[in-house]
Amino acid sequence: MKWCGDHLQLLDQRKLPVQQQYFLCYQVADVIDAIKLMVVRGAPAIGITAAYGAVLAAKQHDTAELLNTLDSLAQARPTAVNLHWAVKRMKKRVIHHQEGQLDECLLAEANEIFQQEIVANQQMAAYGAELIAQSNAPCNILTHCNTGRLATGGSGTALGVICRAYQQGLISQLFVDETRPWLQGSRLTCWELQQADIPFQLNVDGAAAHLIKTEKVSWVIVGADRITANGDVANKIGTYSLAVLARYHQAKLMVVAPLSTCDLSMASGSDIPLEHREATELCYLAERQLAPDNVAVNNPVFDITPAELVDFIVTERGIVANPTAEKLKNLFEACAV
Ligand code: MRU
Repeated sequence: MKWCGDHLQLLDQRKLPVQQQYFLCYQVADVIDAIKLMVVRGAPAIGITAAYGAVLAAKQHDTAELLNTLDSLAQARPTAVNLHWAVKRMKKRVIHHQEGQLDECLLAEANEIFQQEIVANQQMAAYGAELIAQSNAPCNILTHCNTGRLATGGSGTALGVICRAYQQGLISQLFVDETRPWLQGSRLTCWELQQADIPFQLNVDGAAAHLIKTEKVSWVIVGADRITANGDVANKIGTYSLAVLARYHQAKLMVVAPLSTCDLSMASGSDIPLEHREATELCYLAERQLAPDNVAVNNPVFDITPAELVDFIVTERGIVANPTAEKLKNLFEACAV
């Protein structure tokens, strides 16, 4: 995403990997559409986009209307807490604004959020790669969904760790889940890895168990959309299955997420609103119909991995091994977030 003075430019992730087209947001309504329609997706990227959406909203509305519009913006997608976190930060700026032009003040805040996420990505990459280095590296790794530049605006969460580990010679083989139904893995992660010149193999999600067993995968590395106070993790549908598989096969599960993805206001994963998306995501692939007319579809796009299946949460402020409520609380207190 790129701020262009009077509008926000987003690389349209619906069109990748075939076309590189930009979606331009001149109004906050365009930003809400972009988030809902998944022009932009991935928890930190949604948060950054929403922050710039607030800048556009400030150009359009007076303060009362602006605060209502920001509430609508926060509702664009339910699961990734970064959206709510970013909008909350922008609202705070609106409420406490005293001097100067409000939109300029909000732009400074949006730029700061963007910059902080970029720095956080670098720090998480270093921490995560260090964990891999301390294990039986070089090793085989499996990842799910897209957690790179497209999802974060920086080097990535899980994919940032993977890229750093590759540069350090710590990876023998990288497996990429295609990530049904929206195919973030095959369409976006493969595209990013090719650009970074990092070798990998793409597999269907259903092959993960077989690959973890037969290829002796040591690490399953994923991002997160929300981490609750007890360490439960909401992430792309299929993450929970991977966590169970990893534990069964003695692979380690590493969840890489900035503090902006942690929501200590929620006690556990059962409190997280999980997004369900439309049936067409399963029943059609572009124009091609994949299922008979009128099939009943259940399409949850996130799931909850219980903390007890998570070996490490890697944040920009350190690593939490075998997460518990107490350990996460201590981390936040140490950072005074
Ligand atoms: O539905 P999406 O594509 O927005 O879901 C994205 C994910 O689940 C990612 O794994 C998550 O946001 C972490 S990426 C930094």
